Amino acid sequence: MNSVQLVVARNDLKTSKIIEAPLPSIAQLPDDGLLVKVDRFAFTANNITYAILGDQLKYWDLFPAPEGLGIVPVWGFGEVAESRHPDIARGEILFGYFPMATHLVIEAKNLKRSGFSDGAAHRQNVSPVYNAYARVKGDAAFVGREGDYQALLRPLFMLSFLVDDFLAENEFFGAKSVILSSASSKTAFGLAWLLRTNRKPIRVIGLTSPSNAAFVKSLGCYDEIVTYDDIEKMPSTSPVAFVDMAGNGDVRARLHNHFRDMMKCSCRVGLTHQDGAPDGENLPGAKPRWFFAPDQIRKRAKEWGPGGLDQRFGGAFSRFTADIGPKLRIVTGHGPDAVQRVYLDSLSGRVKPDEAHMLSMAR
Ligand SMILES: NC(=O)c1ccc[n+]([C@@H]2O[C@H](COP(=O)([O-])OP(=O)(O)OC[C@H]3O[C@@H](n4cnc5c(N)ncnc54)[C@H](OP(=O)(O)O)[C@@H]3O)[C@@H](O)[C@H]2O)c1
Repeated sequence: MNSVQLVVARNDLKTSKIIEAPLPSIAQLPDDGLLVKVDRFAFTANNITYAILGDQLKYWDLFPAPEGLGIVPVWGFGEVAESRHPDIARGEILFGYFPMATHLVIEAKNLKRSGFSDGAAHRQNVSPVYNAYARVKGDAAFVGREGDYQALLRPLFMLSFLVDDFLAENEFFGAKSVILSSASSKTAFGLAWLLRTNRKPIRVIGLTSPSNAAFVKSLGCYDEIVTYDDIEKMPSTSPVAFVDMAGNGDVRARLHNHFRDMMKCSCRVGLTHQDGAPDGENLPGAKPRWFFAPDQIRKRAKEWGPGGLDQRFGGAFSRFTADIGPKLRIVTGHGPDAVQRVYLDSLSGRVKPDEAHMLSMAR
């Protein structure tokens, strides 16, 4: 039996193909090894960013592929099909980071009741969060539609949660409004929802493309929506903070030149527009800086103690998914061709923002 995988050319992401690789027999699995059948996974612009930064942040190391090719990592669910671990049974359901493939071999380490990590040598150069698998069998929060929300929104909302916390802790650097680019992205509207829910009277302004403005409005989590064309029409006399999901150098420069000293914080988070423009060191206003989530996690883990972050995050996440989840249209796709189509559509920005893709390589 073979594993079916979608691989992409690491130096030309528009080139992709389906390949097959033989699956190990149970006797060929490593000690404590598992053969996991990848059941379903989410796909959003964030996965494209993993590919864009694949070399820089070592994402290509996670799921080895033939020379020059890479497998894009995705968040989703798998089922243990074979196990050489004495305490992990066939049929266990796992939530975590998977390849765009039908199968994954894991070397289970650090087993706890709640989960374990993949100890495979080639995976040890990335943050531990990417090697962690949660054991979710029987947990209602990971079943059906709730499970879709976990795969689609949880990893993104963690970033939204941390940026909200970072801004609030710094009293918004004196800003009265927060401007979010790619306002139609899940990461942006997660942050907008948190700001709108908890941080009044801070105003939340969403920047988006004209074609996505109606969807952004329908979410109800922005005080104001501005299209990229209209940046210079915004009043520029009140202090603002900018959280940048788009990574578009032109948009960033226009915002800084428009707000000048009123730009109190410029926080880089994403690359939806796939623009490799420089950071903008010489722009007027606060210097653009990348937001580094692990720093905020470490800080809060120390201050809030064991479970403190998870508890606060978990409460906010369930309220967010209950409120916003129903506004997304879950679109399922099965089989390699469907997966490849969504990958290519996402790469070229052809996915509608209300569509939330849950995919499976199996037909
Ligand atoms: N630093 C971190 O740790 C971290 C964590 C989570 C997410 N992020 C980043 O946040 C960003 C948003 O991710 P997401 O998964 O939330 O996105 P998403 O929901 O898939 O966002 C879709 C939106 O992004 C914009 N977009 C996507 N592809 C585009 C393209 N090819 N050309 C132009 N615009 C495009 C469009 O928004 P507009 O028309 O509104 O611009 C589109 O409606 C990603 O860059 C992701 O990597 C970073």
